[in-house]
Amino acid sequence: MEVLEAIRGRRHIKQFKPDPIDEATWMSWLQEATNAPNHKMTEPWEIIVVGPEARMNLRHGANFGDAPVVLAVLSKRGASQIERDENLMAVACFLENLSLIAEANGAGIRWTSIGWQEHARQVLGVSDEYDIANIIGLGYPAEVPQAKPRTPIAEKIRRVP
Ligand SMILES: Cc1cc2nc3c(=O)[nH]c(=O)nc-3n(C[C@H](O)[C@H](O)[C@H](O)COP(=O)(O)O)c2cc1C
Repeated sequence: MEVLEAIRGRRHIKQFKPDPIDEATWMSWLQEATNAPNHKMTEPWEIIVVGPEARMNLRHGANFGDAPVVLAVLSKRGASQIERDENLMAVACFLENLSLIAEANGAGIRWTSIGWQEHARQVLGVSDEYDIANIIGLGYPAEVPQAKPRTPIAEKIRRVP
């Protein structure tokens, strides 16, 4: 699949098929996602594989779209606010890589921001050293939503002399 095709075709998946994804397969996708840019090679991403008990305790309303795999994607906070922000940006790149790899393999991701809630940190036992950038459901889509139209980029560009 061409990169542009994956970028255009990638969607936030709300509901997944029950079909499992082989662990070796999604592990290889995570490995490829580490090719993301990251300042000073901090490689700030860390992953928690969320098992059934923790998943239930997270109490996500839609149960991550019944995804066969749920992963909490952490970002190391680092030693300063700048490092923390840059690390989160690097983890966003990691997540986009993972989304595009999933798309290219007929799979997809459901994003959830519940990791920003204290409750999720408690359930997953995450220390103050990390942000939980996102807790994702990963699987094969039951349905791929329509793309939402984007604003022409020209409307978001300004120039300074
Ligand atoms: C950082 C981030 C956090 C998100 N958190 C949520 C979320 O908590 N719940 C949700 O339904 N979608 C979440 N999304 C997905 C967006 O709603 C989705 O990307 C947007 O509607 C555009 O749809 P598309 O990804 O299919 O193009 C998140 C996306 C990002 C990048």
